[in-house]
Amino acid sequence: MRIVLLGPPGAGKGTQASAIVKKYNIPHISTGDIFRANIKEGTALGVQAKEYMDKGLLVPDELVVSIVKDRLTKEDCKNGFLLDGFPRTVNQAEALDVELNAMGIKLDGVVNIEADSQILIERAIGRRICKECGATYHIKFNPPKFEGLCDNDKTPLFQRDDDIEETVATRIKVYENQTQPLIEYYDKKGLILNVDGIKPIDEVFNIIVKALEK
Ligand code: AP5
Ligand code: MG
Repeated sequence: MRIVLLGPPGAGKGTQASAIVKKYNIPHISTGDIFRANIKEGTALGVQAKEYMDKGLLVPDELVVSIVKDRLTKEDCKNGFLLDGFPRTVNQAEALDVELNAMGIKLDGVVNIEADSQILIERAIGRRICKECGATYHIKFNPPKFEGLCDNDKTPLFQRDDDIEETVATRIKVYENQTQPLIEYYDKKGLILNVDGIKPIDEVFNIIVKALEK
């Protein structure tokens, strides 16, 4: 399976991605996670990316595209991949098309997870993440067994720097202006699979699998 996950911040891309990659045994390629790993390691890319991410803005296309192109050529992508948070601009989508064409492969589907702004803000603000294993929780919708600790390894959970209300609101606006046009872009190619992201996590997953296997 070669899948793109589209959707506004907090729609549930990362949550669904974890379950989808397990089911299809494919790598989870999240550009947001790649940038956060670089920030943690203090690389030059991380320093550049942080400047944009902290403001809720997109990292420039030229910094993103080459990373994804390079990642797609790795051995573990031979049987498929899931792109989470890429592409995010029409420019990035066109660059991805060029790369996939050159590789002689096509996307199987673009899953578009839909949710309205009020729920997105609540989800992002309440999100907590494990630094160790990356597991994602929500203080209300998906709480860990023990408050503040990861179920898998008991590591203290943390909140992302960009998960404060003001920044989330900017991220939603940026999504509407720069990423939403991709729904039409992929719809014209007959690839869009719209999914109601308001439903509970397990239900959303079942809907996605059904849509992908249709
Ligand atoms: P990125 O990390 O991709 O963030 P995002 O797109 O803003 O999306 P999120 O990760 O916030 O949300 P999600 O949809 O993954 O939701 P989640 O599953 O965690 O990007 C961050 C930044 O990096 C960008 O702002 C940009 O600066 C930069 N960047 C990344 N890619 C880029 C690119 N291609 N080009 C340029 N810049 C780029 O769920 C959210 C919460 O809700 C969780 O707590 C979860 O438990 C809960 N939840 C999930 N589903 C449900 C449900 N169905 N019901 C109830 N609760 C739920
Ligand atoms: Mg995410």
